[in-house]
Amino acid sequence: MKRTSALARLTPSDQYRLLALAEYELANKPTGAASRWLERARPEQLAPDRAHRTWLILAGRAWGKTTTGSHGVNLAVRQGRAHRIAVVAPTLADVIDLCMRALREAAGPEAIFSASGHPRLRWPNGAEAMGFSAEDPDSLCGYESDFAWSDELAAWRYPEEAFHQLQFGLRAPGARQIVTTTPRPIPLIKAIMTDPTTVVTRGSTFDNAANLDPATLRYFEARFAGTRLGRQELDGEFLDDVEGALWNRGAIDAHRVSAAPDLVRVVVALDPAVSSAENADETGLIVAAKGIDGHGYVLADLSGRYSPDGWARRAVGAFRSWGADRIVAEVNNGGDLVQETLRTVDPVIPFRAVRASRGKRARAEPVAALYEQGRVHHVGSFPALEDELCAALPEGGSGPDDRLDGLVWAFAELGPGQEGPQAGTRDGEALGRRVWWCQQCDSGFQWDAGRLCPVCLFPAPETFDTALLRPPREQPRWPSEPPMNALVSARWRRR
Ligand SMILES: Nc1ncnc2c1ncn2[C@@H]1O[C@H](COP(=O)(O)OP(=O)(O)OP(=O)(O)O)[C@@H](O)[C@H]1O
Ligand SMILES: [Mg+2]
Repeated sequence: MKRTSALARLTPSDQYRLLALAEYELANKPTGAASRWLERARPEQLAPDRAHRTWLILAGRAWGKTTTGSHGVNLAVRQGRAHRIAVVAPTLADVIDLCMRALREAAGPEAIFSASGHPRLRWPNGAEAMGFSAEDPDSLCGYESDFAWSDELAAWRYPEEAFHQLQFGLRAPGARQIVTTTPRPIPLIKAIMTDPTTVVTRGSTFDNAANLDPATLRYFEARFAGTRLGRQELDGEFLDDVEGALWNRGAIDAHRVSAAPDLVRVVVALDPAVSSAENADETGLIVAAKGIDGHGYVLADLSGRYSPDGWARRAVGAFRSWGADRIVAEVNNGGDLVQETLRTVDPVIPFRAVRASRGKRARAEPVAALYEQGRVHHVGSFPALEDELCAALPEGGSGPDDRLDGLVWAFAELGPGQEGPQAGTRDGEALGRRVWWCQQCDSGFQWDAGRLCPVCLFPAPETFDTALLRPPREQPRWPSEPPMNALVSARWRRR
């Protein structure tokens, strides 16, 4: 058979694959890993032949996003198109454990990895890939590159800030980038998708079935098929707002901030799961605060699948690292065990047990209303939490809502939106407007109906009585020695 007719019988995707292989072989001394990738890559895993600045891959879990990104970088290096490459991932651990590891595999043994300073990989031709954590957008300032790879963009804490810093540096003539991510309808991804210099590739987990464990795929299908989570995480669908959901992305995005103001209260809210089995519910663990402006701020979403000891350690760790005032935990499922488990980690941790008497959604609605009014702000992005919120229907939905529960408990405790101290005053003065001086030990603490004095446990008045509110003295007064009481005020420790 003549070669030309043999070529004509190939499918368009095989023709494309052959062309890419030939181009590569012509331009380079082939290396084992790169050639092997060109042979086994699915056509949609090879860089598009259309001119582009950004190749955006929106695909389900385990589609091969990281593998495609790493081989895409390596091929660009071997073809002489990339010399200074920025590699950005959600955290530094992701940069090293996922991206740099995949790049090393793609680049082969002659590329040298160094972890000192920014993680970096150097190819024999002098090209260098430098790793950056998206948690620290400023670290990208001043790094000039001709190629970039952003992995899991939708999971970045500060996607806009980090991606824009990356774009300022990606300015060599003909610069290109690969963005690989599970799709989430965040504004940045929508903007990249509609940019005329972007080529988009879509895909589902099942496209990569030949390389995945069949039992795992069956489990994914059984557990997630047809659910919103499954449509997004497996099918790679780009799901917008759910009609009638309690939260909508527009309201969260509109009031998102990159830093919180001074905080008057911080709480860690915990909704513990009864089991840590692989298919059990997650433990909701949210750190939230009330700012000096009276608004609510979500500071961290540490939810996940933990053993009881695991969630207790995480909650106590969060309490300490955020200088929180207390942990609030739903005890409907765990009863006294929840408190006991927390106390095994820290016997003096300020703790409040809460029990759900009303339906979940009835509790959630006032919190959702505060978002609508712009009185709750997310400090950075919390993709998994935001997915849950924006899928929650008033009548209850089939999706998970463990993070949502944690969030609702946090704001039930904080009561954002109530009139708070005025912004712009000095911290002490501002606090003084709502500080109550305990009648027993004369310590100052923020008034909150039905609470105990955090130092001596003397009860605060049930209703706020301005007669008890002394004009702020120099500052709220705190005892000079640590109180020996079990409920040591975290604020006392923070002084
Ligand atoms: N074309 C391919 N040929 C062979 N194996 C592949 C191919 N594409 C991906 N794989 C394999 O599939 C698995 C999943 O790939 P990878 O980790 O890159 O997916 P991912 O989409 O980044 O996953 P996650 O959503 O977990 O980040 C890996 O073991 C990878 O080696
Ligand atoms: Mg990946």
